[in-house]
Amino acid sequence: MMALKDYTKEQLVTLKAELEKEYNEFKAKGLKLDMSRGKPGADQLALSNALLDVLTSKDFEQGSVGSSEMRNYGIITGIPECRKLFSDLLGVSADNIIVCGNSSLNMMFDYITQCMLTGSDGTPWKDQGKIKFLCPSPGYDRHFAICQYYAMELITVPMTGEGPDMDVVEELIKDSSVKGMFCVPKYSNPTGETYSRETVDRIAKMKPAAKDFRIIWDNAYIIHDLKDETDHLDNIFDILKKYDNEDMVIEFTSTSKITFPGAGVACLAASDKNIEIIKNRMQFQTIGHDKINQLRHVKFFGSVDGILRHMQLHKAILAPKFDAVINEFDALLSEYEIASWTKPNGGYFISFDVMPGTAKRVGQLCKEAGVTLTTVGATYPYGIDPQDKNIRIAPSFPPVDELITATRLLCICVKLAATEKLLG
Ligand SMILES: Cc1ncc(COP(=O)(O)O)c(C=O)c1O
Repeated sequence: MMALKDYTKEQLVTLKAELEKEYNEFKAKGLKLDMSRGKPGADQLALSNALLDVLTSKDFEQGSVGSSEMRNYGIITGIPECRKLFSDLLGVSADNIIVCGNSSLNMMFDYITQCMLTGSDGTPWKDQGKIKFLCPSPGYDRHFAICQYYAMELITVPMTGEGPDMDVVEELIKDSSVKGMFCVPKYSNPTGETYSRETVDRIAKMKPAAKDFRIIWDNAYIIHDLKDETDHLDNIFDILKKYDNEDMVIEFTSTSKITFPGAGVACLAASDKNIEIIKNRMQFQTIGHDKINQLRHVKFFGSVDGILRHMQLHKAILAPKFDAVINEFDALLSEYEIASWTKPNGGYFISFDVMPGTAKRVGQLCKEAGVTLTTVGATYPYGIDPQDKNIRIAPSFPPVDELITATRLLCICVKLAATEKLLG
């Protein structure tokens, strides 16, 4: 057992030759494995197949079912039954919920677009010169991409294990061109961390110089537990109320990783004032979303308890996949002290840090041997990881045996890249 940094040059040369041999043996297998996609596996999708049976033509023989005519235009804020379901899930009054279509990311894009073109509450952001957005990182590349699309300046805020570094955030928001921040407060993508009580409190009481500052509170993994030991996240709207600051946050979630990604239901929660502004904008966007799918989800789950029971089934499939990757890392990498990895209680990712300056090389080695990782760098604004060390591992999609093979290859690549670096 010896850390790689303690190897002599001769030992490193020997190790490198051994690793190259192992690597080439893997390469010769002609693998085609993928650990890049944060999406449910086929067995998880099958858990929701009955969603397709809960409403049939028979249900509609006597007219519509549910609180209103589901088959026609209308009800822009979503059907009351579904608003109630999300209200119970988020702990926010149903009046403060808008249920939309199939994607929360789509809703976030629309909201940022609204801020750009007509303002969050006041002057449009596009008319305020160069604006900036805070991006806690490692984070979700599609959040960063929205800001980049609108040519905002993206500012990296380090994650601490308990959410964004609030000392940094509190300093940055003194600048009135800083207009907002993306947050994935529970089982964050990709670090898996959950914002602590203190972090949520410090966020809720922020008084940014920009009066039209908005936080996108993307609660995508709100109930996506992997362990019996679960993380607790305070309800942001309860805390915001204490500081009379409810207009600062728009919360989003969806059933994408609960039922069918791309065919689920998404919603937002916001203050009375923000709901009015958003509703007013939406009137020009649509005559209503897919109410039948909203009703299907209500019938399928019945209640939040129904959703929680369903999440236990996901957990039973996902937990062994996370364990498989983590066990390989523990067994194959620990002694070398060249990498670290998260062991999250929930979410969809393992955040994997390799020796600084080697992550891109690891991605390249894996690719050449047939294993695709999330594009290295993607977890940072502009796709540039300043230390070139973070890799997002997505264990949900491949079967366990493929995951183990891919992780073994990944470990060889991590060691090989580190050895190459140490040898200069
Ligand atoms: C943090 C986060 N937000 C949003 C999404 C996408 O959500 P939706 O399918 O509701 O658009 C993802 C998907 O991976 C995600 O990781």
